[in-house]
Amino acid sequence: MRKKIVAGNWKMNKTFSEAEGLLFDIADLLSESRPKDVEVVVCPPAIYLELASDIAQQNDFSCGAQNLSQYDPGAYTGELSAEMVKSAGVKYVILGHSERRTYFGENDEIIAAKISQALKHDIIPIYCCGEVLQEREENRHFDVVAEQVNKALCHFANHEIRQVVIAYEPVWAIGTGKTATPAQAQEMHAYIRSLISRHYGQETAEEMSILYGGSCNPGNAAEIFEQPDVDGGLIGGASLKADDFVKIINSFKK
Ligand code: PGA
Repeated sequence: MRKKIVAGNWKMNKTFSEAEGLLFDIADLLSESRPKDVEVVVCPPAIYLELASDIAQQNDFSCGAQNLSQYDPGAYTGELSAEMVKSAGVKYVILGHSERRTYFGENDEIIAAKISQALKHDIIPIYCCGEVLQEREENRHFDVVAEQVNKALCHFANHEIRQVVIAYEPVWAIGTGKTATPAQAQEMHAYIRSLISRHYGQETAEEMSILYGGSCNPGNAAEIFEQPDVDGGLIGGASLKADDFVKIINSFKK
């Protein structure tokens, strides 16, 4: 059985006291109601990882980072190694996010090196892929996602790929309020699963969790999560409000 996951990506938001408040609010709301079979992950900015992983541990959710270095520890000013991130109690890391690709020049080679670091230190990578609007309009979205998946993932061994979570995030849907339709999400998720199946066999493909991300909110999450190949969500804006985030988690019905 593949795992159902809802992860909140806070991006570069919240002061220390706001972050603490949001973590406790999420914990409180989760204690009132939550589906037992959904893993909840909160990915705050790196400076709050230790705080978040402490609160997460006490409240039955998990903590994820938004980035880590592709290098082993050493003279890399400003960077965080996978080892350091792991030692803060982190279980997941978001890698390959379109904002990192666009604003920080991360390409699939760099992302692949980061995934290697995560795997080496027993951190579960949430690998993000997805096309921009023009690529979809030109009907190239399947090719673009296939290239991203092939380049960043498909050189890993079967036992390694089984540790990875994939997030399909059409770039035109991120932070725009424009969500993929449930049918568009299902179509791409099934395609990604077929790519994994081609490289690693059907059993591995069936075990992989593939999350949808891009303007998910309490009003549209249920319909998207209902799709057979959608195993949860990567939530940006709506994860900054405890109420909305927990409503999204609770919209998991299958
Ligand atoms: P959004 O962001 O939910 O605000 O669209 C999703 C993401 O970037 O992971």
